[in-house]
This record gives sequence, C-alpha cells and structure tokens, in this order.
Amino acid sequence: MTNFWQQTDKPLMALAPMEEVTDTVFREIVLSQTVPGNLHVVYTEFANTDGLCHPIGKEKVIHRLQVNPSERKLLKEKNVKLVAQIWGSKPEKYAETCKMICEEMDYDGIDINMGCPVPKIVKQGSCSKLITTPTLASEIIHACQENSNIPVSVKTRIGFKEVITEEWIGHLLDHNLPAVLIHGRTQSMMSEGLADWNEIAKGGILRDAKNKKTAIIGNGDVKSIAESEEKCETHNIDGVMIGRGIFHNPWLFTPEREEPTQAEKLQLLWDHASLFDKTWGDTKNFRQLRRFFKIYASNFKDAGVLRAALMESRDLAHVKDIFKEWGFSPIEKY
Ligand SMILES: Cc1cc2nc3c(=O)[nH]c(=O)nc-3n(C[C@H](O)[C@H](O)[C@H](O)COP(=O)(O)O)c2cc1C
Repeated sequence: MTNFWQQTDKPLMALAPMEEVTDTVFREIVLSQTVPGNLHVVYTEFANTDGLCHPIGKEKVIHRLQVNPSERKLLKEKNVKLVAQIWGSKPEKYAETCKMICEEMDYDGIDINMGCPVPKIVKQGSCSKLITTPTLASEIIHACQENSNIPVSVKTRIGFKEVITEEWIGHLLDHNLPAVLIHGRTQSMMSEGLADWNEIAKGGILRDAKNKKTAIIGNGDVKSIAESEEKCETHNIDGVMIGRGIFHNPWLFTPEREEPTQAEKLQLLWDHASLFDKTWGDTKNFRQLRRFFKIYASNFKDAGVLRAALMESRDLAHVKDIFKEWGFSPIEKY
C-alpha cells in the first residue's frame, strides 16, 4: 500500500474537508491556481456511510464523492492526493463503504470523520461523539483498515466536552494510522474561540513517546503557508490542514504570486460559477455559490457594489448580465 502521508515532503499542506465547499468544482478551482509542491492533499465533503450503502439513499450522497475528469487531470499534474471523507456510526457500513471506494472509485486515501460537532450528527453517535465511545471508534477504524487497500486516516478534535488530548489522541495512536488530523477545538467549542495549538502539539509528543510513524497534521485558524511552516517547526507536527483560510484567499497555496487583478478575480469567479453549472446543472442550488462571491469580489474599487448584485443572482446567465453591466467579459473556459 502506498502511504502518501509518510512519503510527501514535509511540511505537508492539506485543504480541509468542508461541506458544500470542497466539491470537485471548488477543488479544481483551487488546484488550477496552485503551484505544484505547495499543496499535497485535498479532501471531499464528508459522505455518510449509511446513505452510501443504501440502494436509494446512495443517489443523494454519491455527488459528494464525484470527481470530474478535469479535476483528476490537475491532481495528477500537480501531484496532489485525494482523500474521501466518510462518517457514520456502524462499523459494518464503514466496511461496505470502504470496499466500494476501493473497488469502484479512484481515491488515494479514506478519512474517518471523528470531529464534526453538529448536534444532529452527534445525536446519531457519529463524528465527534465517537470521542466519547473509544471502543466503537476502534471497531470503526478496524472495519475500515480491513476493507481498504489505501491509507485510512482519522480527522478529529481534542475532546468532546472537555479537552482530553492525551487520552483520546493516545488511543487513536494505538491503531497504526498513517495520519491523525487534529482540529484544536472540542466539540462544545464548535467553531468558536481559538484552536489550541498547544494541545495539537501534544499529538506530536505522544506520537514520539509511543514511537509511532503516524503523521500529525494540525488544523485550526491557519491562513497561510508561512504560518503553517512556522507551526510545524514550533509544534513538532508534520503538516497543517487549512479550511476557512481559503475563503480569505483562494490563491493561498501560491504565496509567490502578486495580488490578483480585478480581472483575474472576476475571471476565477466566472470559472467557478460556470464549472459549477456544467457539473451540477439543476441538481444543486445555484445559491450555494453565494458564499464564494465575496472571496472573489473583494479588495477592489466598488467590490461591495458588485458583490451585492451577485448575491441576488439566480443563475449563470444572470451572473453574466451583472458582469456585462460591470463592463467585464469573461473568457469561456468550461
Ligand atoms: C463550511 C464548513 C464545512 C465543513 N465541513 C466539514 C466536513 O465535511 N468534514 C470535516 O471533517 N470538517 C468539516 N469542517 C471543518 C473544517 O474541516 C476544519 O476542521 C475547521 O473549519 C477548522 O479549520 P480552519 O480554521 O482552517 O477552517 C467544515 C468547516 C466549514 C467552515
């Protein structure tokens, strides 16, 4: 089994899984702007194992694991690994899902979500709730490991209600995992407060004390590669995963480049919206793109005015009309 978590040059940089954000479309947009060597791993949105194993339910979930051929090409060109993230609470469903992913899809890794804090998911005993049920967490990890021929990692938090980094990360480290990705918050913190990087650093200390090879990847509030490098040096970890930072700067993984011009920003917005439309058509609500508009329409004169108009857009043709009024003609790429 090729273990890219260990093979990749350190520090390892990863784009975090984000629901309704890191679909094949946005990953392709980010990859298209990334210089090879700056980003090593990207993730899908989390996909539910019960849904994926259900003959009818599968249809509702499978889009989360869709990979466009154009994204595939960029992943290869830029040597970036793609990880499918899955969640659920039943080991047998994880086993079935891992078999399906390994036999029918082309992923480099599988990640178990043991971090999502959302109450309706926690109620099902899944994601961050697994921090409170370590025996079930072990069963799930084993079910995945026994049914996968690609590396199985875990993305988690430093505790559920209380911080229990030593106990919980120590437990995970007993499972021969190639990587543990640690978001430095508890479930009860949700996305509030600051991620605790001193707790994340304990992951590296525990790993060394246990003499394991597991890559420890830190996550929480990081906004640049420079900050990631600094965190890796000072916190004895192997890499950093960045999530919301990409909302501030989609060019984050190419720090060498100059501030993009207004035309470059609007072109990327158009690329994103048109690829979204081509990929999903009517199967996804165009409004999902709204959260992205402010990424692109910012930091230039009257950007707020354009943004306000874009927030009202109903479809791709409408975006084009708004651009026309603005005096911008995008190049058709997709
Ligand atoms: C909109 C959104 C969706 C998210 N969806 C997922 C997900 O599907 N799986 C997951 O493990 N974490 C998910 N997260 C959490 C992020 O992966 C990450 O752990 C968190 O945002 C902290 O990192 P950051 O400060 O770099 O954003 C999501 C976060 C956001 C903001």
